[in-house]
Amino acid sequence: MKVEVKLKENSYQVFINELDKLKFKGKVAIVSNAKVSGLHLQSLLSKIEADEIFVISIKDGEEYKNLITVEEILNQLFVSKLDRKSTLIAFGGGVVSDIVGFVASIYQRGIDFVNIPTTLLACVDAAVGGKTGVNNSFGKNLIGTFKQPKAVYCESSFLKTLEKRELSAGMAEFIKMALSFDVEILDFIENIDEKAFFENSLDDAIYSKIIDKSIALKADVVSKDEKENSLRMLLNYGHTFAHIIENQTNYKRFLHGEAVAIGMNMANHLALNLGLLKESEVKRVVEILKKFDLPTHYKINDVNEFYQAFFLDKKSHNKKINFILLSALGKAFIKDDVPKDAILHTLEAFK
Ligand code: GLY
Repeated sequence: MKVEVKLKENSYQVFINELDKLKFKGKVAIVSNAKVSGLHLQSLLSKIEADEIFVISIKDGEEYKNLITVEEILNQLFVSKLDRKSTLIAFGGGVVSDIVGFVASIYQRGIDFVNIPTTLLACVDAAVGGKTGVNNSFGKNLIGTFKQPKAVYCESSFLKTLEKRELSAGMAEFIKMALSFDVEILDFIENIDEKAFFENSLDDAIYSKIIDKSIALKADVVSKDEKENSLRMLLNYGHTFAHIIENQTNYKRFLHGEAVAIGMNMANHLALNLGLLKESEVKRVVEILKKFDLPTHYKINDVNEFYQAFFLDKKSHNKKINFILLSALGKAFIKDDVPKDAILHTLEAFK
């Protein structure tokens, strides 16, 4: 199965369960972490042909997605003398694809990279679309570039070793796609056998369907608005809140998908306060998130501090916060005129 991400320049394909042999002309550096390498590196190496192959290991976790790790990777690329014909392979979850894409965009002013995601979250979202970057003390993903991969290979076999928490975090991004764009997918999600999901015994066909549906929706959005001038902002439903939560908890307490789950619930409460969503719709989403063991609540200690953090969001302009809200399940839109009172009222409910 393949999905094409059609762009003005540098279109590419996302291959789902089609990773057989990968041939490269120059040198290749695979960037991964110890956990993924321990489980899957040998299998990947058996499929790659290149002039020389290097493996670079980085620390696992969103808290290491920073400029220090970027510099460590760059140094190893220079030591290994990678040149402009070389390719980087991001082999891991969203943290790895974000950071490797960023390094690929700046090493010698840009070299090719390929994403081979090993988490559900990266397969359904992070590995596709060309957003790269790192976090700093001011917030999440505030430093970065747009750099599209040459190709993406999603293999459900890599997902079979994921822990329950990682699987759930990936589902959060898939639920986000359904809630933002296609309510019919919610019925499919509600019918997934959660016992099989948590035992990691879902059929490959179900994983393929999850990845295919999510990437097809994302590819369509990215094809129309690669650099996030308007439509692509909708992919950030739940993220405006989630990024603040992740930053406030030093990227340690929640996986990204978990923070997105809370963020979607917060956004829905704001939509409820504004009369956009019905209580029954907000509850339906909470039930779906709970089905996958995702959190829906975060205790806000300082409402004003949380409110001020919205202005650091990349979607904020001219003192206006662009919230991504739902006008119905399956219909996300951008709202830039939410009254401050309504925002504070929503945040108060999470105190
Ligand atoms: N994860 C949101 C985007 O790629 O735009």
